[in-house]
Amino acid sequence: MEVDGKFNIADIFPVLKPLDPQNIRSQAKAAYDWFDKVTDGYSIESRSLRGLDLFLAGTETSSNTTEWAMTELLLNPDMFSKCLTKPKPKLNSVNIVPKNTQIMVNAWAIARDPRYWENPTMFKPERFLENELHYKGQHFEFIPFGSGRRMCPGIPLAHRVVSLMVASFVYHFDWKLPHAREEMDMNDIFGLTLLRATPLVATPIPVITNA
Ligand code: HEM
Repeated sequence: MEVDGKFNIADIFPVLKPLDPQNIRSQAKAAYDWFDKVTDGYSIESRSLRGLDLFLAGTETSSNTTEWAMTELLLNPDMFSKCLTKPKPKLNSVNIVPKNTQIMVNAWAIARDPRYWENPTMFKPERFLENELHYKGQHFEFIPFGSGRRMCPGIPLAHRVVSLMVASFVYHFDWKLPHAREEMDMNDIFGLTLLRATPLVATPIPVITNA
């Protein structure tokens, strides 16, 4: 996953592709060869979607999103409690893009752009309440699943899985961190998805309800 998401200069200057200057193609080949060996070549061949693609696209993304959501909730107890009980800029300009242009959209930067977001890096889930903003690819300031014809086909599953996991963790457990909140490592590792640099460690304490 890490090699899949690496910045590759050959994506910007295709002329460099045969040279593979960062050795990314051979690293990726080694990773995929390993994966093929582990899965014994298993794949569900259908016309263009393979089981392996779905597996890769659908696992780390959801678990990773859940881990970050839990991290933020444990750092923001007020928000954690609230769980128990838009900016909408108009992007009307039309740009003509020549055929075959390769475009790289920096969704990460857009989602942190102070022109569209108040306190962009602050965990404020309520910013998504009481407005029309959604993640289905029509509001371009927020495109965690991409947009257009190649956008993520796993949204219905991802939405249900992540919501169910986070809701279950919040509803059924109190959580204790093994360190002070200020000591939480918020660094990430750049890969195909943005992993936490150190896994989230927290102790769940079951909440007994009489319901
Ligand atoms: C929180 C979870 C997830 C996130 C944030 C996410 C995000 C994304 C993004 C950003 C893309 C690229 C879209 C583009 O190029 O415009 C993508 C593609 C894709 N995703 Fe997801 N995804 C998630 C979960 C899933 C799940 C659960 C599945 C399937 C079980 C899945 C299957 C796919 C596939 C097959 C593609 C490639 C689509 C194509 O190239 O035509 N994803 N996803």
